[in-house]
Amino acid sequence: MDWGMKNRLARILQPASGRTVMLAADHGYFMGVVPKLEVPRATLAPLLSHADALMITRGVARTSVDPETSPPLVLRVSGGVSFMGKDLANEGITTTIKEALRLNAAAVAISIFVGSDYERESLLNLSQLVSEAEEYGMPVLAVTAVGRELEKRRNRYISLACRIAAELGAHLVKTYYCERFEKVVESCPVPIVIAGGPKMDTLRDALLLAKDAMQRGARGVDMGRNIWQSQAPVPMIQAIRAVVHHNASVAEAAGILDGAGARQPELAGKKT
Ligand code: 5RP
Repeated sequence: MDWGMKNRLARILQPASGRTVMLAADHGYFMGVVPKLEVPRATLAPLLSHADALMITRGVARTSVDPETSPPLVLRVSGGVSFMGKDLANEGITTTIKEALRLNAAAVAISIFVGSDYERESLLNLSQLVSEAEEYGMPVLAVTAVGRELEKRRNRYISLACRIAAELGAHLVKTYYCERFEKVVESCPVPIVIAGGPKMDTLRDALLLAKDAMQRGARGVDMGRNIWQSQAPVPMIQAIRAVVHHNASVAEAAGILDGAGARQPELAGKKT
């Protein structure tokens, strides 16, 4: 692997643990104004020093994140569709590698839509992006997106999509946690990070998701709504860091929320 590629990957997967806490805040690229992300700068500023990497669009980078204090960027470069349109899977490439280099991105991110009407287009987009990005030592993160079909988040589908992403050359894969997740990890030859998905009922649920995923071989999280839509975003990302980087149990991580006065009634008495 080329030096530049290795260096960029090491800015994301922390060399000490080989793991990452990536903060996802790219949702606006197809969802527009998302609750708690109405003013990205206000939401993101307190969280930046706790994130190993930040997944955003070029627009949010330029308008809402200071270059002096930004964590390494994982730049969202696919899009062109919205929740109002016919098909969320019909994405194209929105941002060039040249621009990713200008923004000093540590990686570029693209969604693939396996099993959708736009499977072929999204997979060819990934392949072409990898070919171009590799010329410049730029890693590509493939997101196994499901659009509106959240029920697709099952082992068979996730395994298939992750493996295809890796086969087409993705250097990192972001996917959803699912049952028998260790099998997904085993059959995907590149590191996997998990998305949080829609905000869960409790903070404990999100900590449990992160813990289970890490125990089954995930290399970290790329989490958004369960952090910045929570009632205690900074303690929540600190608790997630404890799980990802320090193998904290859910109870220990919940203790971080306790210490910050963010304890939820549902945490009481539960064990990991
Ligand atoms: C959208 C994305 C988001 O970054 C992803 O869903 C992660 O955020 P969350 O934890 O809120 O699900 O890639 O396609």
